[in-house]
Amino acid sequence: MLMEKDKIEELKQLKEKAKLGGGKKKIEEQHKRGKLTARERINLLVDEGTFTEIDPFVTHRISEFGMGEKKIFGDGVVTGYGKISGRLVFLFSQDFTVFGGSLGEMHAKKICKVMDLAMKVGAPFIGLNDSGGARIQEGVLSLAGYAYIFFRNTLASGVIPQISVVLGPCAGGAVYSPALTDFIIMVKGTSYMFITGPNVIKAVTGEEITFEELGGAEVHNVKSGVAHFLAENEEEAFRIVRELLSYIPNNNMEDPPRAKPKDNPARRDEELRVIVPEDPYKPYDMKEIIRRVIDEGKFLEVHKHWAKNIITGFARLNGYSVGIVANQPNHLAGALDINASIKGARFVRFCDAFNIPLIVFVDVPGFLPGTAQEHGGIIKHGSKLLFAFCEATVPRMTVIVRKAYGGAYDVLNSKHVGADINLAWPSAEIAVMGPSGAINIIFRKELAKASDPETYREKLLSEYRKEFANPYVAARLGYIDDVIDPAETRPALIKFLEILRNKRERRPPKKHCNIPL
Ligand code: HXC
Repeated sequence: MLMEKDKIEELKQLKEKAKLGGGKKKIEEQHKRGKLTARERINLLVDEGTFTEIDPFVTHRISEFGMGEKKIFGDGVVTGYGKISGRLVFLFSQDFTVFGGSLGEMHAKKICKVMDLAMKVGAPFIGLNDSGGARIQEGVLSLAGYAYIFFRNTLASGVIPQISVVLGPCAGGAVYSPALTDFIIMVKGTSYMFITGPNVIKAVTGEEITFEELGGAEVHNVKSGVAHFLAENEEEAFRIVRELLSYIPNNNMEDPPRAKPKDNPARRDEELRVIVPEDPYKPYDMKEIIRRVIDEGKFLEVHKHWAKNIITGFARLNGYSVGIVANQPNHLAGALDINASIKGARFVRFCDAFNIPLIVFVDVPGFLPGTAQEHGGIIKHGSKLLFAFCEATVPRMTVIVRKAYGGAYDVLNSKHVGADINLAWPSAEIAVMGPSGAINIIFRKELAKASDPETYREKLLSEYRKEFANPYVAARLGYIDDVIDPAETRPALIKFLEILRNKRERRPPKKHCNIPL
């Protein structure tokens, strides 16, 4: 029997109504704020025509504060699934045109439903955040709603990739859902995140500050490190999500997708022989080395603007996805400090959780000295990076480019903390410390007594360099698997990556580790 025509017509009308969210006027206001609507965003993010909505007719269940008359289909969030480059993803997109995208009981339930589906089928989860926070009229129902989401974010961590895009306000406890996910992308000028806003800060501390200065995209990308990517506009934010996903598997049981290799795996690069300056005190750009080694020079940098003394990001070698960690001699001489340790550790753990091999380029003079670092807890923060490398079981390779001094040598994916293949360039200096510091300590008395201390110091320095400031002491001990011509770095890494592809390493079972926090 055919369905009555009226019923089909009614369904169509209801769906059209649901699509309008808070209505035309609110949509115009959203555009005037320089923001897209929840649905426009989804259309830009997923492959054309692939989005399927779930729960379009959900509304809230409260009647207090006149809310009984204000029931809007969708309840301020669009949820569902779609495809990105042909791969299934689940997502939510908060609709600021409905109660300012604020989160109440049913809004939260919709988000939880798609999170549960993403977990069941092992697909990435993406949140597009644009919300006034807990829906005030729903009181504790909203708080519970947030907590249900936080709980799921935590359960999903390390199982499916979770990406948060912040496209408007994200305030109060609401910030903790993005913070629990793997990556946060913020858009310049229109997004902000904070726990307590400018008004509360003014009331409590008297400090006056704008939304942007307090928690804008630049602040969180440059100063706090809360955000991982800074997008110029919403389109760029979605492009970053798509690019990021291309390096990441759907879940922790799968390998990352391999791209069709477009760059010659045997490609040598003689320029790599001249990038590192002869003078060990001269800086240079480590990114130049990375770009010359990886496929087509394509590097997706994570935390590009924060803790610049360490570089983290995704690249490909012969089409295989790899995570790169490298010291940056151009910034703080590449020394490790609190922020660099946290940044590196988080990245290493992500790669390890999602089966992405790690490649580490080392040029590190040690940990950054100073009371700010010591009193700030460099001991516990530095140990995060050490812990992260020690526990990683993905294929792990290291290339020592120049300095590898002291504890930082051990920390940065040394053989001794479980790396699989460790290579060094002839310019490598692997030692407890740099020549000058070492001479001052071990020959302090002799130098004080010497008739010509400067000539004596030069003699000692040259002896120390010959003895220790080279890769061959470590190579003789097997701590370095080989010393290679820098020009050969790409083919060498690709060959070793191939042999490590089926690496399996088991660790003792435990409930979970206790990483120093
Ligand atoms: C209910 C809200 C709301 C909220 C905004 N709206 N936030 N409704 N609960 N939390 C509504 C407004 O009443 C308005 O409705 C519409 O959304 C748009 O808001 P505007 O203020 O007109 O927009 P704008 O000027 O752009 O300002 C956006 C804003 C501001 C900065 C987000 O609305 C704001 O400060 N809201 C309150 C933010 C907040 O304090 N939230 C609670 C945070 S604490 P009409 O009908 O007029 O269009 C929190 C705790 C979470 O979230 C705890 C989890 C554990």
